[in-house]
Amino acid sequence: MLKQEDIITLAIESSCDETSVSVLKNGREVLSNIINSQIEQHKKFGGVVPEVASRKHIENINEVIDEALAEGKVSFEDITHVGVTYGPGLVGALLVGLSAAKAIAYARDLPLNGVNHIEGHIYANFIEHKELEPPFICLIVSGGHSHLVHMKDYGDYEVLGKTRDDAAGEAFDKVARALGLGYPGGPQIDRLAKEGNKDAIPFPKAYLEEGSYDFSFSGLKSAVLNYLNSQKMKGSEIPVADVAASFQKSVVEILTEKAVQCALDKGLDRIVLAGGVAANSGLREVMERECKKNQIDFKFPSLTLCTDNAAMIGCVAYYDYIRGIRSGLDLNAFPSLKIGQRY
Ligand code: KG4
Ligand code: ZN
Repeated sequence: MLKQEDIITLAIESSCDETSVSVLKNGREVLSNIINSQIEQHKKFGGVVPEVASRKHIENINEVIDEALAEGKVSFEDITHVGVTYGPGLVGALLVGLSAAKAIAYARDLPLNGVNHIEGHIYANFIEHKELEPPFICLIVSGGHSHLVHMKDYGDYEVLGKTRDDAAGEAFDKVARALGLGYPGGPQIDRLAKEGNKDAIPFPKAYLEEGSYDFSFSGLKSAVLNYLNSQKMKGSEIPVADVAASFQKSVVEILTEKAVQCALDKGLDRIVLAGGVAANSGLREVMERECKKNQIDFKFPSLTLCTDNAAMIGCVAYYDYIRGIRSGLDLNAFPSLKIGQRY
């Protein structure tokens, strides 16, 4: 039952290959979160094809909006404001969600809140953990981004480290592809790693300069590719599960060590995990163990909230809305939007 004072957010996410629409009540209560994934359409190409993604978003968007309203048991009359991802992401894909959101805001005379997709990943944790409040250190690891962020308050971030080359999820996807595991690779590697020996192959870990919170995964990726080539040249069988486990171990250890060190250096006793790679069972396990050892509270979202979804976008939109932030109807897509940046 809705009350007069409830703030109802209609949120739209279309930055990559998921068309998603969500309805939220007062920021953290999800009334619906419809996710229409295009993964099947992109699988045969081994990755997301931007043009295909845009077309599929156009085909899906109206239906997903209707479904989100129906499942949330609300109508357009109940909506207080509209939130939408405007970057970072694929420009053609972003434009579909953005145009739909602007059309609704214009037609219903509703306030519009443009949302940064990376911030959305962090806020997935506010939906999962109703009592969670900033400050904390957030490790955001997705297909396009790897960031260590000090979230000081709502909308207030300090980026302490980021990847200098491949994002963590990108490394998972590229290694999976080399192993012939298909797209997206992260979940496949995660599954196979459970059957393999993580100490079988000593893949490198890049720490970079002393005290740096940045990441680099391209060296590790090349080491895996070189190993696979040398095995092929020798005519030896590739121990796929061992490669998956050893590769995952390197990624997980470097992410965990840097995140924990960062929290200790900043004197913060909480780490929050976000982004598609936050679904990785090895990462959750090692982070949990190391955080416990260092008396750091560790939080992560459930699997559906880790990967792209509109509920996390709606949560950011809500906190922006209650702080009086509004976007104009001239809001444009911003494919390379950085965290903390606003247009
Ligand atoms: O956050 P996300 O849905 O999209 C971006 O904003 O990029 O993240 C997708 C990424 C993909 O690279 C996918 O392989 C990875 O998250 N991923 C995983 C797992 N589930 C998804 N990586 C490792 N282990 C998983 N279980
Ligand atoms: Zn994402």
